[in-house]
Amino acid sequence: MATAGSSSSSSTPAKRLEGKVALVTGGATGIGEAIVRLFREHGAKVCIADINDDAGQQLRDALGGDDVMFVHCDVTAEEDVSRAVDAVAERFGGALDIMVNNAGITGDKVTDIRNVDAGEVRRVLDINVHGVFLGMKHAARVMIPRKSGSIVSLASVASVIGGMGPHGYTASKHAVVGLTKSVAAELGRHGVRVNCVSPYAVPTAMSMPHLPQGARADDALKDFLNFVGGVANLKGVDAMPKDIAEAVLYLASDEARYVSALNLVVDGGFTSVNLNLRPFDD
Ligand SMILES: NC(=O)c1ccc[n+]([C@@H]2O[C@H](COP(=O)([O-])OP(=O)(O)OC[C@H]3O[C@@H](n4cnc5c(N)ncnc54)[C@H](O)[C@@H]3O)[C@@H](O)[C@H]2O)c1
Repeated sequence: MATAGSSSSSSTPAKRLEGKVALVTGGATGIGEAIVRLFREHGAKVCIADINDDAGQQLRDALGGDDVMFVHCDVTAEEDVSRAVDAVAERFGGALDIMVNNAGITGDKVTDIRNVDAGEVRRVLDINVHGVFLGMKHAARVMIPRKSGSIVSLASVASVIGGMGPHGYTASKHAVVGLTKSVAAELGRHGVRVNCVSPYAVPTAMSMPHLPQGARADDALKDFLNFVGGVANLKGVDAMPKDIAEAVLYLASDEARYVSALNLVVDGGFTSVNLNLRPFDD
């Protein structure tokens, strides 16, 4: 066993997921795509599971080779999630080392609760909470007998504070943290780690339409980064999907072998500081 100060714990391998098998829900685009690409760079065999067949198949073809596959999977359908997990294990020697529950939606942006469609809130909870639960359940089915595994789910800064998204979205992301802690409590004795990552805003098809109207001009990406950077705590960094993928990589890898039940907030300090009183103004 590596101990503090031993040389085996001091160097990080260049390929941090060599030999591992991963499944990424919502892996066809956005943060999921960045996770898939980074996992492949680090030597993992990866399954992209998504409802967007065209984007998923294109990404699989772009990455190429035998170590990446695509399965159609709607995370709200238990048979889809179960089939995806079985397909990965069958293709890659019975293993599933890493499950990333990334698929999620924000739901309609309605700012007056009196006008919020209750069915829409249900749909958000179905994908963002029930979908994560199903991913955890079926990953555990493969991981428990193998006595190891890492489950990482995407929450959000909306899991920590209110006002960052629609009501259903905020409720759903708080629930992802609750599920993470609850399932970590059960699976710890089986050697399975369960964590989540909570990003602040990075540009994707999901986040960019949520830019306030006043902040929009011609160049969508530039406008998004300007707006987000303007209200960010940490200045000088344009946070991108890859920055979130790096946090997921850490939790998926053996470098995090003693980390479980963590909500790793990747927000440059945004949710931990309140600068409204302007205490640091000159
Ligand atoms: N982008 C951000 O700024 C941000 C911030 C905080 C949290 N997040 C979270 O990160 C995750 C990824 O977000 P994103 O911005 O990449 O979104 P995105 O919309 O760009 O990508 C989401 C992917 O999930 C897939 N998907 C949607 N519903 C699905 C379903 N029912 N089954 C399977 N796949 C489905 C979509 O086809 C798409 O490929 C989400 O859980 C989101 O809440 C994103």
